[in-house]
Amino acid sequence: MKRVGVLTSGGDSPGMNAAIRAVVRSCRYYNLESVGILQGYEGLIQNDMLTLGPRSVKNIINQGGTILKTARSEEFRTIEGRKKAYQNIQKNNIDGLIVIGGDGSFKGANIFHQEFNLPFIGIPGTIDNDIFGTDYTIGYDTALNTVVEAVDKLRDTATSHDRVFFVEVMGRDAGFIALNSGIASGAQNILIPEKKDHINELIQSLEQSAKSGKKSSIVVVAEGEELGNVYELAKQVKAKHPDYDIRVTVLGHIQRGGNPSCQDRVLASRLGIAAVEALMKGKTNVMTGLRSNKIVYTPIEEAIQKHHSIDNELLKVAKILAI
Ligand code: F6P
Repeated sequence: MKRVGVLTSGGDSPGMNAAIRAVVRSCRYYNLESVGILQGYEGLIQNDMLTLGPRSVKNIINQGGTILKTARSEEFRTIEGRKKAYQNIQKNNIDGLIVIGGDGSFKGANIFHQEFNLPFIGIPGTIDNDIFGTDYTIGYDTALNTVVEAVDKLRDTATSHDRVFFVEVMGRDAGFIALNSGIASGAQNILIPEKKDHINELIQSLEQSAKSGKKSSIVVVAEGEELGNVYELAKQVKAKHPDYDIRVTVLGHIQRGGNPSCQDRVLASRLGIAAVEALMKGKTNVMTGLRSNKIVYTPIEEAIQKHHSIDNELLKVAKILAI
């Protein structure tokens, strides 16, 4: 192992830059060269790469987004695209690849590894926290803080007007962001795809909360919620209770930006170093992760196939505290 390629792929997440920095600096520490690949797998196909050194990654630990840019490459899904990518890997003398991204990015890397046998290590970077093999993904904590700050602000206006706010948060098919931000922001109801929800239960809960003296309520809804999206849910509640003053807010991509939190910077720094060390030890096709605050390596196939489950205790916490 002499030359390591690093790329970011899929949706960006705060802390990806800290992970790039950790990869590049640990490469230098261990006397390896590092190459940054631009725009995810697109950069491999287009041969868009640059050599990186410790000073190329200065002043980025605090920045959101990714200096390497990111993309969801369609061409990499084809064998022709992957062949071009491998030719460029050879041309640039890259001996190992580190991919910072989510499970879609790992699926691509896994196929690439099977076809060309290039050593590859994954680092979980997504705000969704939906990856098996790590307690936390890079960017999740920052996204949670962004959501909580936003919902706190919505609470101010909800309280002033005695309103019910439906707030949609990201997470793709997972409810981690909704569940944890909902608890932290004191939501009356939290709707997530991992739990079977019923419109009548939601309405009863809002009625109960009004009866108990609450004048305003926050309902946090994961974007993947199966009962319906925020607008549909708000409409159904309004149909039953025309007297409720309801507003809907979709937080959207604001959740993907901003300076990474301390937790995400430290996580990214640890996982970046662990990825380089894994390549040096001859590990391949594994994902670095953190479990019970210890570095672990999970076979990439497990990381892709297995499901990161939500903690049922948190559902109980949310229910009890909404009384
Ligand atoms: O995976 C991260 C994520 O932000 C999801 O929460 C969301 O569903 C999706 O990406 C949005 O994708 P895009 O940025 O392509 O609209």
